[in-house]
Amino acid sequence: MARTVYVNGEYLPEDEAKVSVFDRGFLMADGVYEVVSVLGGKLIDFQGHMVRLRRSLSELAISEPMTDADCLAAHRELIARNAITDGLVYLQVTRGNPGDRDFAYPPEGTAPTVVMFTQSKPGLADAPAARTGWTVVSVPDLRWGRRDIKTVQLLYPSMAKMEAKARGADDAWMVEEGRVTEGTSNNAYIVKGNTIITRELSHDILHGITRAAVLRFAAEAQMQVEERAFTIDEAQQADEAFVTSASSFVMPVVRIDDAAVGTGAVGPVATRLREIYLEESLKLGV
Ligand code: PDD
Repeated sequence: MARTVYVNGEYLPEDEAKVSVFDRGFLMADGVYEVVSVLGGKLIDFQGHMVRLRRSLSELAISEPMTDADCLAAHRELIARNAITDGLVYLQVTRGNPGDRDFAYPPEGTAPTVVMFTQSKPGLADAPAARTGWTVVSVPDLRWGRRDIKTVQLLYPSMAKMEAKARGADDAWMVEEGRVTEGTSNNAYIVKGNTIITRELSHDILHGITRAAVLRFAAEAQMQVEERAFTIDEAQQADEAFVTSASSFVMPVVRIDDAAVGTGAVGPVATRLREIYLEESLKLGV
């Protein structure tokens, strides 16, 4: 069965969906995106993703294409039409099609392009990797200086992912001025005793929606949270490490470059946080 995707208000079979070659998203990576996970047919933290989407759009002066209610309705429609139980919904908004290539933004009134599609991932919450953990390698962070805006400029993170694979690892942690910024598509954490340490929010990292939820649940579970940057060296000597994102939830990290983290096995804090995150966010799913 062909997947149904959403393009500018229309639901179409994926092979009939089209975006102009002049679209700014295609020519200039002039667009932003969100990824919302689906568990048991429910959207996880939809509202948080909508708040961040609006912020990304406003930072780039791209006009808002639709209301949250319409966006939620479209997400639900795609989930229903594609019979998604577990998986994700990808949403991308670009500055649209000015009809030609030009560095200057198109005139006001040029409609943004909106694309949405689903990816089915049966058993997403039971990923076997959560039991064995990821290995990561460190790479320099060569991205631009506004990583808080969730743009579709993902070439460097893709290159970093490929370098990780070439080095036999699952992902890369990017390092700037000696400190870890984040993973290729996730936020990075270490655990020391009862304290969870993760880089503070700034233009240097994406303000993860999963990060916000996990830090809230951690505080509610009486864990200490310290928001500060850390080095690879400190991470290698931590008791545990993990990453968070809408598609991996809480994923333990058991090896960084050539050093095992803690015992080298998945630790209790990451395991507990994953359980709490899945349980609590499912309750709040829409
Ligand atoms: N990536 N940092 C980066 C660079 C990311 O790309 C992501 C998400 C995160 C985690 O954010 P959140 O918890 O809101 O998903 C952090 C998505 C999942 C992706 O690109 O597929």
